[in-house]
Amino acid sequence: MCGIVGIVGRPGENVVGKIISGLEKLEYRGYDSAGLAVVHDGYIDVLRAVGKLQNLKTKQEGSKIYGNIGIGHTRWATHGKPTENNAHPIRSGSVAVVHNGIVENYKGLRFDLQKDGYVFETDTDTEVIAHLLQRKIAQGCSPRDALRSVQEIIEGSYALAAIFMTFPDTMVAARYRSPLVIGFGEDICVGSDIGAIASIACSEVAYLEDGECAEIIGNEVSFFDASFQPISPKRQKISPGFVSTGKGEYAHHMLKEIMEQPSAIRRTILSNKPDGRMFDGVSRILIVACGTSYYASMVAKYWFEKFLKIPTDVEIASEYRYRSPFIEENVLAIAVTQSGETIDTLEAMEYIRKNSNSRVAAIANVRNSAISRIADFVFYTEAGPEVGVASTKAFTAQLTILASMAFSRHEFLINKLRNLPSICEEILDLQYLVKDLAEKICFADSAIYLGRGSLYPIALEGALKLKEISYIHAEGFAAGEMKHGPIALIDDDMPVICLCPSGELFDKTASNIQVALARGKNVVIFTDPYGRKHLPQEVTKIILPEIIEEFAPILYVIPLQLLAYYVALLRGTDVDKPRNLAKSVTVE
Ligand code: G6P
Repeated sequence: MCGIVGIVGRPGENVVGKIISGLEKLEYRGYDSAGLAVVHDGYIDVLRAVGKLQNLKTKQEGSKIYGNIGIGHTRWATHGKPTENNAHPIRSGSVAVVHNGIVENYKGLRFDLQKDGYVFETDTDTEVIAHLLQRKIAQGCSPRDALRSVQEIIEGSYALAAIFMTFPDTMVAARYRSPLVIGFGEDICVGSDIGAIASIACSEVAYLEDGECAEIIGNEVSFFDASFQPISPKRQKISPGFVSTGKGEYAHHMLKEIMEQPSAIRRTILSNKPDGRMFDGVSRILIVACGTSYYASMVAKYWFEKFLKIPTDVEIASEYRYRSPFIEENVLAIAVTQSGETIDTLEAMEYIRKNSNSRVAAIANVRNSAISRIADFVFYTEAGPEVGVASTKAFTAQLTILASMAFSRHEFLINKLRNLPSICEEILDLQYLVKDLAEKICFADSAIYLGRGSLYPIALEGALKLKEISYIHAEGFAAGEMKHGPIALIDDDMPVICLCPSGELFDKTASNIQVALARGKNVVIFTDPYGRKHLPQEVTKIILPEIIEEFAPILYVIPLQLLAYYVALLRGTDVDKPRNLAKSVTVE
């Protein structure tokens, strides 16, 4: 997490506005604090503010800070509380640094530096990087050599950029297990992602790989590999799609992204036609993912086992590699990740790479993200940039690709998939019913979501959406499991949100709903015309269109996204940037 940006501008240029533009694009990576530092006339000026970037902007507007070379940071706190004092850039003498990642051996380094007389002013792990750089500069090293010695000492993960009072036209940057790109345009830029540097008028990009670093002096960039040998990474054109289009007519990115689902699904279907032969000889599928992507993967298990007849394991990436799992022959591994940067997912894939000869596929939304450099082949969801921290359109686009894979040997279903976008549109037209429903839920302290079969992961995802953005405690359960414990929670106030489309499991879910109704009054059912007829009349129902049973997970999640959105709106939370969360999680 954390977003970093750096700009080496032209002589006389003031890059402060551009740093802020870059940070705007990176705020999804954390918004506990923001800061920037610039070099001018032999000085470094630093401006920092706790909370969202807007607070930094307000401070900047009232300041005269300027400089033609500078760095910026938006923070998701790991070490040290989200205070202004712990905000980056972190200074030591003539050096200022921004960092994304965790210095795992910072305690020992801090102790050594303190013995050498360095005084620590923050609670961050990053401060050791600043002091280590400063110590080397004070010993007469160049910025590049100072960086090299830091890279040799620190353990953990880092994407970092540093500027120097005594080298006023130099910036150094390095990465290890945290993303970093170098952008080329009217200025030379450094950023955690392409979106940030595209917003600073960069037209080309070069990716740094683990252990690599760059030294920028004026408009010259020198690259070095992990052994500090000079290299020339490939420069690639930045496609216009990387520049997000803003909120448009919508109040929030999340609502816009919910509404974009028909087109995101349509584009994803058109550009991904998985060939059923990719499963030839595969005896097991192993999916690793986190968060919402994990729930999409859980749905895929139902589909893969039913339609491909291949046993499928779905693993929480942060757990997977630490139990030293055995991987048999003929496994197809699939990483599912919106950002393509989630460290747990990347590390799980590395584990699979090292411990098996499995083919490794990925489903990602962000092109050229780190996962694409690990995977043998990548299917891209065509959801477009997703800015709202709570994932919506990326989730349904992931489900669309997973469904295309699962149905790849079933032409009838593949053909029917093409109807999904128009059915999505019909469901989105029901948003006003969901809005009314939100009024019944918004005062609850807690909520239960129930689903069976492939709708069980959707119950989990619905509950996650509500938790993430409204801060109401919510849990999803397999409807048949309710009687084994969760039923004790049901009373007249507890919202029980049930997913009950017609199909094979309708009667079973209907019975579970009866059991809930016998104990509570606040039951709500998402169903279809068949359910309208066959479920108890007195219960609140939202009637969705009749659809092929297999497609229900992709469609039933949409009203749950809307429900979470409208509840959050009524509770006045920050929908696009919910507290404590970040969109791209690059720490373990
Ligand atoms: C974070 C985001 C979630 C996301 C998860 C996995 O927690 O807030 O929305 O589902 O990371 O991210 P990925 O990019 O790997 O799908």
